Amino acid sequence: MKMVNLSIDGKEVEVSAGTTVLNAAEQAGIHIPRLCYEPDLSPWGACRLCVVEIQGLRNLPASCVTTVKPGMVVQTRSPAVIEARQTILELLLAGHPQDCLTCEKMGDCKLAQYCYEYGVKKSAVPETEPNYAVDDSNPFIVRDPNKCIACGKCVRACAEITGKNILELAGRGPGTRATTANDVPFVESECVFCGNCVSVCPTGALTEKQMQGKARRWEYQKVKTTCPFCGTGCNFDLCVKDDKVVGVASNPESIVNGRALCLKGRFGWDFVYSERRLTTPLIKRNGGFEPATWDEALDLIADRLSEIKAKHGPGAFASLSSARCTNEENYLMQKFTRAVMGTNSVDCCART
Ligand code: FES
Repeated sequence: MKMVNLSIDGKEVEVSAGTTVLNAAEQAGIHIPRLCYEPDLSPWGACRLCVVEIQGLRNLPASCVTTVKPGMVVQTRSPAVIEARQTILELLLAGHPQDCLTCEKMGDCKLAQYCYEYGVKKSAVPETEPNYAVDDSNPFIVRDPNKCIACGKCVRACAEITGKNILELAGRGPGTRATTANDVPFVESECVFCGNCVSVCPTGALTEKQMQGKARRWEYQKVKTTCPFCGTGCNFDLCVKDDKVVGVASNPESIVNGRALCLKGRFGWDFVYSERRLTTPLIKRNGGFEPATWDEALDLIADRLSEIKAKHGPGAFASLSSARCTNEENYLMQKFTRAVMGTNSVDCCART
């Protein structure tokens, strides 16, 4: 692999050819602020917050779309770079509602984080606060176009992760915002409610409805787990506050699915607290189900299976296990079928 040597903030760095300046800096342990960059998505170079100074260039290029060159000398925090970032943040604030106290994203908002970091308190240009209607039409996602900073991450997540192309940027200048085709509410669009757009949104423009008012970011812990809904085995983080699940967050480090989740994985967690969940075995007696102990239920199953095998032979039995079970449980199911029941008639819904 061809390697390139360059200097970033006085550090000598060696990276493979084709690496962007932003990624080269990351590899050198230098964080460059970013709002539209996301490792899982194609680079856009839209927000310009990642600008850097490169010796010999008059302008300040966006580091997320600039590839390294041999001998490059890069400054990521020069006075010119800091001033440019402050101006960009001021421009973004000009059209952004300042309702941080009640915003769902408080504590997890990248715009607020960078404004704090760069000392930007308010916009230096006249405020032109937009007044778009909030799209609250569906049970899963709240879309507040007023808080959209047109970074395009949701647009790319919808196209590149989910493959649906539901979202696009509409409007021009300060009025630019992500919206659906013909600006219809989510529920009237072709949206499949996977929520991948929500997981990449840096501001409160897209938030999860189920989590509204449940917890601030600093109030919940993230606990990594595996989705129980199918056999794919997607990983994600459960957001847990006071020992109760309040939501699900993508875990970009997941080797199975990365950030991607489907509707069930991201929004189907509320079954955990359903009052209709079975908490005890039920045995059918006299045409109805009656609660039983585990010993009673397991004894009944063992007796009935032994009876069937003795009367009709192993060929009368077959097992069908579920993709919702773990690999270990499915392994035990086939072991039981072969070793105890004496048949190879084994199947699992994950096969199809
Ligand atoms: Fe590079 Fe937005 S992060 S332009």
